[in-house]
Amino acid sequence: MDLRFEDRVALVTGGSRGIGRATALLLAREGARVAVTYRSRAEDAAAVVAEAGDQAMAVPLDLADAASIRAAVDAVLARWGRVDLLVGNALATVGLTLWPPTPFEEQPAAEFFRANLDGPYAVAQAVVPAMRVQGFGRIVLISGTSGADGLPFGAALSTAKAALHGLTRTLAKELGPVGVLVNAVLPGTTLTEHIAALLPAEARATRERASPIRRLLGPEEVAPMIAFLGSPANTGVTGELVRVSGGL
Ligand SMILES: NC(=O)c1ccc[n+]([C@@H]2O[C@H](COP(=O)([O-])OP(=O)(O)OC[C@H]3O[C@@H](n4cnc5c(N)ncnc54)[C@H](OP(=O)(O)O)[C@@H]3O)[C@@H](O)[C@H]2O)c1
Repeated sequence: MDLRFEDRVALVTGGSRGIGRATALLLAREGARVAVTYRSRAEDAAAVVAEAGDQAMAVPLDLADAASIRAAVDAVLARWGRVDLLVGNALATVGLTLWPPTPFEEQPAAEFFRANLDGPYAVAQAVVPAMRVQGFGRIVLISGTSGADGLPFGAALSTAKAALHGLTRTLAKELGPVGVLVNAVLPGTTLTEHIAALLPAEARATRERASPIRRLLGPEEVAPMIAFLGSPANTGVTGELVRVSGGL
């Protein structure tokens, strides 16, 4: 299937690692120009750009810093003059304590929300003006199954992800008339480098046993759904929360 990314411009926040990286590389292979953002590990973003080819760029962006969000979008517009796709993928793990389990009442959330509620909201606000002018856009927000199902000991994460569902459904309704389709992808536990390092062996085995496919997903299994929903080939799907979870 031709996703029709030729001459299209994609911005993938957190594109330097994990699911964002797999998505950025897939988009580049499909012919898109791709900007990948990173917060601190510039070398990871540079490696993605090197692999993606001369149609890619790396831009710093910190979800907790509104000025850096504006600057990143400006850099993309300055280089390529448009932004067709936003993949809102970055997650700031600041203050997040999933393992070992910490009771709800001991989990701080203010800093986490500042980055992971305000951040994706601001990134979307920064790209929509260009999409309105273009009369075309795609936004794919990366949530997680925790946002739909809840996650014991992960209240801040599941709350922030659930908020993305409200944003997805609202923007789909508000921006559909101007040619912008907005969806969320909800990955289940996905073996990124970060998760592999964080997830204790026992928790991993429990998840694998519970999964209908008896294993965790890899980032390259999540990326194709993001690419399709974010592509010009998607003309009819908007406002959806799409699970990519191996059935869990
Ligand atoms: N992996 C899973 O099991 C899973 C499950 C459900 C949902 N998800 C969602 O999928 C998305 C990607 O997850 P992942 O596991 O692929 O992530 P990851 O491998 O940990 O990569 C995180 C990315 O976000 C960037 N980042 C970190 N803090 C940031 C900040 N404050 N501002 C802007 N960017 C920041 C990182 O850049 P630096 O490296 O430079 O810091 C990196 O590019 C997230 O939204 C996550 O919630 C993942």
